[in-house]
Amino acid sequence: MLAKQRFKQWYTLLMVAMLTSFASLVIADDGATVQMNMHDFMKQYIKPAGKLAKKGNEEPVLRIYQILPSLALAEDKDQWQAAIDKAVEAGKPNSGCRGCHKANKRAYAKKNGDRLIAIPAELIAYLEQAQR
Ligand code: HEC
Repeated sequence: MLAKQRFKQWYTLLMVAMLTSFASLVIADDGATVQMNMHDFMKQYIKPAGKLAKKGNEEPVLRIYQILPSLALAEDKDQWQAAIDKAVEAGKPNSGCRGCHKANKRAYAKKNGDRLIAIPAELIAYLEQAQR
């Protein structure tokens, strides 16, 4: 009985240790991402990228589109990907704004407006450069 309890204690300790080191890995990874909510990402980065696309530089929007579905809620990922693919395949990346907003914007803002997303810091740096 006692041996069993000892094992349980030891096992719990091991689990805590593993979780702690895992958490520190996740935190360390955060160094490479920038956290904000979807609204701020849209306003500060996607909106300017849309303006650049109108002027003929579609690369910033396309770079955003590469990761945007991965920032969606799990249940929305496929639909976001489809909306983006449709716009890109039509050769009009900016038509994706409306396509996705119609289906998602209001509901997302209402339910998940505060949800933080982790955007690769590299992409943020690129977008800031592109906006200049
Ligand atoms: C695949 C989905 C998707 C695409 C594509 C997309 N958005 Fe959004 N956008 C959203 C969602 C969801 C919100 C709501 C976020 C919130 O307010 O919480 C939003 C909100 C916004 C907002 C802030 C709210 C507002 O209406 O002022 C702006 C600005 C915006 N998007 C601009 C753009 C532009 C410009 C493009 C295209 C270049 C674009 N978005 C493409 C999903 C998308």
